[in-house]
Parts: sequence; C-alpha cells; structure tokens
Amino acid sequence: MANVKVPYLDLKAQYQSIKSEIDAAISRVLESCQFVLGSEVAAFEQNFAKYCGTAECIALNSGTSALHLALLAAGIEPGDEVITVPFTFVASVAAVLYAGARPVLIDIEPRSFTMDPAAIEAAITPRTKAILPVHLYGQPADMDPIMDIARRHGLIVIEDAAQAHGAKYKGRAVGSIGDMACFSFYPGKNLGAYGEGGAVTSNDPEYAHAIRMLRDWGQDRKYHHVLRGYNYRMEGFQGAVLGVKLRHLDQWTEARRRIVRQYNDLLAHSDVETPVEMPWAQHVYHVYTVRSNDRDGLQAALTGEGIQTGIHYPVPVHMQPAYADLGYGPGAFPHAETAAKQVLSLPLYPELSAQAVAQVAAAVKASAKAPTAATK
Ligand SMILES: Cc1ncc(COP(=O)(O)O)c(C=O)c1O
Repeated sequence: MANVKVPYLDLKAQYQSIKSEIDAAISRVLESCQFVLGSEVAAFEQNFAKYCGTAECIALNSGTSALHLALLAAGIEPGDEVITVPFTFVASVAAVLYAGARPVLIDIEPRSFTMDPAAIEAAITPRTKAILPVHLYGQPADMDPIMDIARRHGLIVIEDAAQAHGAKYKGRAVGSIGDMACFSFYPGKNLGAYGEGGAVTSNDPEYAHAIRMLRDWGQDRKYHHVLRGYNYRMEGFQGAVLGVKLRHLDQWTEARRRIVRQYNDLLAHSDVETPVEMPWAQHVYHVYTVRSNDRDGLQAALTGEGIQTGIHYPVPVHMQPAYADLGYGPGAFPHAETAAKQVLSLPLYPELSAQAVAQVAAAVKASAKAPTAATK
C-alpha cells in the first residue's frame, strides 16, 4: 500500500499511551532476571484467573500451546475425536492433531460465525471425547446448548477463547464456562503480549496441575519427569507486560465497542452486512468483520484509499492443502465457505479516531455496490 492513511492496527499508539507503566514493568524483569516464569508471570496468572472468574490460570508461551496442553490434560489421545469448526484460525484444528486425535468438523451458524449447536449431535460417535467451540472475532459461541449436549454425552468442553478476552456469555466471562479455556496473547490480540503468549483457565485443580507440569517438561519437581512434557513456559517479560495491560483491558474493550457502534450506525444503510451481536453475547470485537458480495473489490477499493483491511479467514481449514486429508471437500460446510468468500475486517483498535472511522465508512459506502444477503 503506497500511502497508509488508516492502518488496520496501531500497536505503537497503544504503547505510547502506557509507556511509563510498561517501561517500569520491563525494568523490574531486567532487575530480577526472572526471564522464564517468575513472580511477574505468577502475579499475572492470579489476576487473569480473577478476571475470568476461575480458580486457575496457567500461563504458557502461546495460544496454540494452550490448546495442545488443554487437550492433553483432558486425556485426549490417538483414536479420539474432537468436534470443532472449520471457520477459525488453523490452530484450533491443528492442536487436535498435535494431540494425535481426529478433528471432526461441523459448520458454523452464519450470523454469529460460531459453532452451530444444532450440528453437534449428528457428529458424535463412540470415539468423541471433547467439543472445542471457538469464540470467533470476540463473540462467544452459544455455550448453553453446547454444555448441555456435552454433559448429556459425557464430553469435555474446551473453549477456544484466543480472540475473546473479557467477552461474556449471558453475563458470564468466557474462560469460565467450559471445563477449560484457551487464550492467546499474540501481540495484536485485545490483550496482547510483546511477543508470544497464551494461557489456560479452569476451575479444575487437576487439569491445572497437569498443565503446570506439561508446560515445564512434565516435572513434578526439578529433574523428576512424571509426564512427557514440553517447553511451553511463559517468559517473564510477557507476564510483566500482560500484567500492566490487563489493568486497561476493560477500558480498551469499551473503546472498541464505541467504535463498533459508530461503524454500525454509519454502515446501517450500506451494501455491506455489519456484524450481529447475538442476544447472549457481550462481544469484545477483536475483529470488526463485514460481509460483502464483492469482498475482493471492496478490499481493493479500500487499499486504493490507503485503508488497511484483513480477511479472517480466506480459506476454511477443511479446504487448506495441509488439511485435505481430514477428508472434507468443497461444499462440506456451506456457511463456512460462504463466510470465507465474503468477510472483510475493517480497521479497529481502541485508539482509532472517530474521524478515521468516518473515513473508512465513507470509503466502504462509496465502493460497495452489490447488496449482501448471505445470512438472510
Ligand atoms: C481462534 C484462535 N485459536 C488459536 C490461536 C493460536 O494462538 P497463538 O497464535 O497464540 O498460538 C489463535 C491465534 O491467532 C486464534 O485466533
């Protein structure tokens, strides 16, 4: 893009707004030399558990590691099946394969972009062990029917909350609804580290104990390896940064929601379909995604205006070459496939000005031509 007028994300603006707190936190890690785990990470674990309303939080080196270890702690092993969705970041599905199990995919409900609970029961077999709903874009999946089906069939529920820090389902924080939940703190996330990071939250002390061992080579004490573990520990710098940022998260979420209201108002009578906040949801808008029948044309027009956008995600997991052997072809999940063709994510971050939002909305209205009715 020749001349970026509105970036998709602006991490520098956020750093400038909290620079003194971050610099002090980084200095504390330098002074203590607790570069791996340590007191800053432990304090963040306590505060994030409190934030999610859970007894436990185990800090890790990525959201992918969180999914992997949650699945292992749940006892998932080769031959087992885990039900999840194809319209997600690839990690949700890849982690099931890391555990040696088979991902069984079901379609999304198209307004929420999240797992369609009505499709779950037909996918359950005697080998099914867990359900892994994804709170995509920051909107919780419809957890009540998912939990109900899981309890009736004796299945474990692992929330993929990588995009949904602080989101609520019927007033309950995501991370506290399933048996375990997995978060990513990748820098661009609503709660982002200054490097890789992730965590599992749970109310179950046994899952937490297993994950604490698995992240640190399966040791129950130094050099005594009771499990075959991994090096998935969180770094001290990341714990320190996340501890600072957690204090600002609710205010940033409010800013995101304010910007979304402005976008929704300005785009109400345009040719794009704006996102729907489901009745059960307090959406945290990690991503603001519109649908367009001419998505590629719209993206090109916005690029021409100096407006950066993203596509989350252009190819559903079952149509990715690397996952062709899961055995699902084109046409298997119509809602996921339509979404992949139509979605476009507009710039959204807490520091985005009202003027920039108006500029983006005007550019969308000027370029979008064909009415979009994919979910009607
Ligand atoms: C839905 C979802 N699941 C899992 C992950 C994996 O997290 P990480 O990138 O921290 O490994 C991501 C991150 O992008 C994600 O968006």
